[in-house]
Amino acid sequence: MPTETVYGLACLATDPEAVEKVFAAKGRPPESPLIVHVSGIEQAKEVAEVSEQAEKLIARFWPGPLTLVLPKRAVIPSRVTAGLETVATRMPRHPVALALIERVGPLAAPSANRFTKLSPTRAEDVDPALGEFLVLDGGPCQIGIESTVVDLTGTPRVLRPGQISIAELSDAVGQVVEIGPTPGPQRSPGLHERHYSPATPVRLAHQLRYEEAGLTFEEPQNSRQIQVSRDPAIYAAMLYFSLADLDRRGVAEIVIERPPQTPEWLAVWDRLRRCSS
Ligand code: TXA
Ligand code: MG
Repeated sequence: MPTETVYGLACLATDPEAVEKVFAAKGRPPESPLIVHVSGIEQAKEVAEVSEQAEKLIARFWPGPLTLVLPKRAVIPSRVTAGLETVATRMPRHPVALALIERVGPLAAPSANRFTKLSPTRAEDVDPALGEFLVLDGGPCQIGIESTVVDLTGTPRVLRPGQISIAELSDAVGQVVEIGPTPGPQRSPGLHERHYSPATPVRLAHQLRYEEAGLTFEEPQNSRQIQVSRDPAIYAAMLYFSLADLDRRGVAEIVIERPPQTPEWLAVWDRLRRCSS
């Protein structure tokens, strides 16, 4: 299904057999929990214990690219959450996703890519290697990188950066939100170092050379160079499908020009660091 971030491989969150199929299709390790997509706060309360702090964030950012990690309720099979007592949940800002969830109920959906590969941001980029599935074509995803994941089970902490920034989150909860893995064992599962990778090797560089293929802020110098935006939101929206296009063209290496090291580029940097590692 389409969402505003990336396409998801969706199944009924309450059906353990369906959940099993999603893990198998992705080749995803069982210790990586899934996000449960809901149609609003009422449904969120059916799958999770929604705290006052969570309500504040929901009021400000849902529907939208914000995933909240909260204590889980029993309707969600432990397979969805990789055995954790918490569940990650979000309300997508896409009419097709919302219509589907309203019709069938909460949907567990990881990004619709094989484990460690690029997340699809257009229907045609969904990997046929996932097996037998239907694609609901909702057009290109507007945000283009995965949601911000915030753990609210302790001091609020961003586990995965996204378009919604640390500053906006801190402002909404009225305290400083930290970033990074939650301290302690087994708390930030599924954050693998190598991730979001095209099939082609990726290297970061100061500037693309004349003959190289990749992403550049400047005027392209050959047909295998794609010009990207200096606006981080527009850059994010085109990042994955630009990499998918270069992948399809069978280039030997993708070179990506380093964006500025400023807070607005944090989520993009997270993806670039992982796809080039
Ligand atoms: O934008 C998105 O979030 C997309 C669209 C389809 O909604 N979904 C997505 O799902 O990116 P996935 O499975 O590729 O990533 C889920 C992330 C992982 O980093 C996982 O570790 C984290 O959410 N997560 C899920 N449940 C968690 C939990 N109970 N505790 C901590 N992290 C959790
Ligand atoms: Mg993913």
